[in-house]
Amino acid sequence: MSIYSPQEARYQSMPYKRAGRSGLLLPAISLGMWYNFGGLDPFENARAIARRAFDLGVTHFDLANNYGPPPGSAEETFGQLMKKDFAPFRDELVISSKAGYDMWPGPYGEWGSRKYMLASLDQSLKRMGLEYVDIFYSHRFDPNTPLEETMGALDTAVRQGKALYVGISSYSPEDTRRAAEILRRLGTPCLIHQPSYNMFDRWIENGLLDVLDEQGIGSIVFSPLAQGQLTDRYLGGIPAGSRATKTERVWLTPDDVQGNMGKIQKLNELAVRRGQKLSQMALAWVLRKPQVTSALIGASSVAQLEQNLGALANLSFSQDELDSIETILGE
Ligand SMILES: NC(=O)c1ccc[n+]([C@@H]2O[C@H](COP(=O)([O-])OP(=O)(O)OC[C@H]3O[C@@H](n4cnc5c(N)ncnc54)[C@H](OP(=O)(O)O)[C@@H]3O)[C@@H](O)[C@H]2O)c1
Repeated sequence: MSIYSPQEARYQSMPYKRAGRSGLLLPAISLGMWYNFGGLDPFENARAIARRAFDLGVTHFDLANNYGPPPGSAEETFGQLMKKDFAPFRDELVISSKAGYDMWPGPYGEWGSRKYMLASLDQSLKRMGLEYVDIFYSHRFDPNTPLEETMGALDTAVRQGKALYVGISSYSPEDTRRAAEILRRLGTPCLIHQPSYNMFDRWIENGLLDVLDEQGIGSIVFSPLAQGQLTDRYLGGIPAGSRATKTERVWLTPDDVQGNMGKIQKLNELAVRRGQKLSQMALAWVLRKPQVTSALIGASSVAQLEQNLGALANLSFSQDELDSIETILGE
C-alpha cells in the first residue's frame, strides 16, 4: 500500500462526545480490534479498515492484551499500523488497552493483581510500540483481589506516564461506584466504563447508567450490533466466514442467531421504513442514551465500516419508532 495521507476532511462528519465529566471527547463511533486484526487475519484488510476509519473521523481504536488470536497479536498488528501509517498522527488518536483476562501461564497472568496489571501494560506498550496508552482498563472485576489494589495499579499506570486515563469494563453498578470512589480518592478519576449494550443485551439499563450519571463517568458500549446480528449479515441465512461460523473462539453461535431471527427480521423492516440499514438503526439506538459516549463497533471489511458510519446521518427516533422497537423486543 502507498504512503498514508489521511483525508483532509476527516473531522467534518463525526460528532465527538464528552466522556462523562472529563475533558476527553470521543467519536460517536469507535473501532475495536477484538476480531479481524489478529495474527491469522490478512494484514492489508486490517490496514484498509483502520485507514478508512481514521479518514472518516474515527479517532479512537480499542484493544486489549488478549485480542488476536493468538493473544497479543492484535496489539502487534496495531504496532505495525502505527509504524507504517499512524505514527505522525499519534496526538490525533485515542488508543486503549486492557488487562484482566487470561494472558500468560501461572498465577500472575490474569485477573486484577497489581503484579499482573502493570506487567501486562508493559507488554502491551511493547507490542504496540507506544510510550503510553490513552486509556488503560481493568477488563473485568476480580472478586478475589481487593478493589483498592486493582484501582491502585490503574492509578500507578497514570503516575508512571504509561496511561493518560483509566477505565473499567463490565463492572456491576455497585462495583463501579466503589471503583469510582477509590479512584477519586487516589486522584485519578475513572474516565469511562466499557459494558456490552445492544437491543438484545440491555443490562446497563438496570442501574449502571444511573451510577455513570452520578459519578460523572462516560461509557463506550461494546458489541452494539450484537456481533453482527443487528445487521444484514444473517438476513439470508448464516454465510460462510461470518462470526457465527468461527470456531477458534465461540462467542456467537448459529443457534444464537436463529433464536433471534424473528426479531431481527422485524427490526430490519422498521429500519427500512426509517430509510436506514438495520446496522445503522442499531447504532443510533444505543447512542440515544445520553450516558453513552461512543458505540464501539467491529468490522471485517471497509464496506461494513462505511455502512456503520452511515448511522450518523440519522440518529433520532420518534416515540412511535422507539415504541415499535420495544414491542418487537418484547415479543
Ligand atoms: N470489554 C470487553 O469485555 C469487550 C468484549 C467484546 C468486545 N469488546 C470491544 O468491542 C469491539 C466491538 O465488538 P464486536 O466486534 O462484538 O462489535 P459489533 O459491532 O457488535 O460486531 C462486529 C461484527 O459484526 C459484523 N458486522 C459489523 N458491521 C456489519 C455490517 N454493516 N454488515 C454486516 N455485518 C457487520 C462483522 O462480523 P463478521 O465477521 O460476521 O463480518 C463484525 O466483525 C471489540 O473489537 C472490542 O474492542 C470489548
